[in-house]
Amino acid sequence: MLDLAWIPAIFELLTPLYHRISLPSASSAPDPRSDQEMLQTETPTLSQIQAPIADRLDRVVDEFRRILVADFEGVAEVNEYILQVRGKLFRPGLLLLCNEVGSEPTPEADTLAAVIELIHLATLVHDDAVDHSVLRRGMPTVNALWSHQVSIIMGDYLYSRSISELARLGSVEPVRILAQASNSMSVGEMRQLASCDALDFSEADYYQLIQCKTASLISAACELGAFAGNASLREPLARFGNELGMAFQIADDLLDYTADEADIGKPSGLDLREHKVTLPLIAVLPELSRSERKRVEEFFADPEPRDEEIAAIVEMVTRYGGLDYARGRALAYAHAANEALDGLPDGPPLRALRHSITYAIERRR
Ligand code: IPE
Ligand code: IPE
Ligand code: MG
Ligand code: MG
Repeated sequence: MLDLAWIPAIFELLTPLYHRISLPSASSAPDPRSDQEMLQTETPTLSQIQAPIADRLDRVVDEFRRILVADFEGVAEVNEYILQVRGKLFRPGLLLLCNEVGSEPTPEADTLAAVIELIHLATLVHDDAVDHSVLRRGMPTVNALWSHQVSIIMGDYLYSRSISELARLGSVEPVRILAQASNSMSVGEMRQLASCDALDFSEADYYQLIQCKTASLISAACELGAFAGNASLREPLARFGNELGMAFQIADDLLDYTADEADIGKPSGLDLREHKVTLPLIAVLPELSRSERKRVEEFFADPEPRDEEIAAIVEMVTRYGGLDYARGRALAYAHAANEALDGLPDGPPLRALRHSITYAIERRR
């Protein structure tokens, strides 16, 4: 298995002990000379990344609650439930950090950060219904606890609250950025349906899908941060967010193969159970023997595969190097994200953005 312990040292780390190491090109192998030094490094934690904006992030959660308030008891009840657990707040965190690159913090960004988390949550509520998932953030999903109908309505409610809030802000540019991202996410979720049961889904199809469903919103978060701060940085930060978002989703798809449910707070193996074809499998399909290919086809024809069958596919994909391949691709996107930050105003926010790249590909949840 590819050893990823060297990755964090690629980026400037919180501790001054490590000097900056130049990145290999996206397609080249890691530099073995630096391994010894790199192995001493640690993956930044979420709280380390979010340290420069921790107080603001607490305000974002307050904003989030304020925006969500509902008069109708049926909606308020589900609101209360989904507000019990904070997600990683990865997107609002990025928005606030981008807001502080080459700029003083601006209060408008706090509201935009709440809006982006609302849109994210709306897509999760819908996504869990689409994916028939029963667990999210360690808790039963809305569709598991209530119904698919309630999930559809609540997703729409969360989304419409975010639009109202944007309207209250009165600036058309955030509406444009978020409308484009939301539109892209809907297309992405539809592309995903096309990937189900489709063993001819190509690697290019896969990148197009994850760009739409995940990278678009992460890119929008970064662009909005710059929009409310140093507007001249909109383009590089949007590009950074896009590359980071690609890496983030490849890592998510890897976690579906490798992680424990208890760690990620959502079911693992669900993509295969739902017959979703993601990068680790796409990478190995051309390598399989005729009999192994047949086994995969039978798996995809089985409407309710058993746990042992899922484990057998995971074993096959691992044996053929599909996980290593996907990690390599995540790393290439991480490299591109890191490069997009070159030349931007230095300081704790920029360094935290660099750490967030490492976090995105090394995270355990
Ligand atoms: C989950 O996003 C959906 C993906 C794009 C993979 P997160 O992993 O950011 O979920 P939360 O918000 O922390 O629960
Ligand atoms: C990301 O895809 C979903 C959205 C962008 C809404 P997944 O379906 O892989 O996300 P999880 O694994 O359910 O969080
Ligand atoms: Mg899902
Ligand atoms: Mg997933």
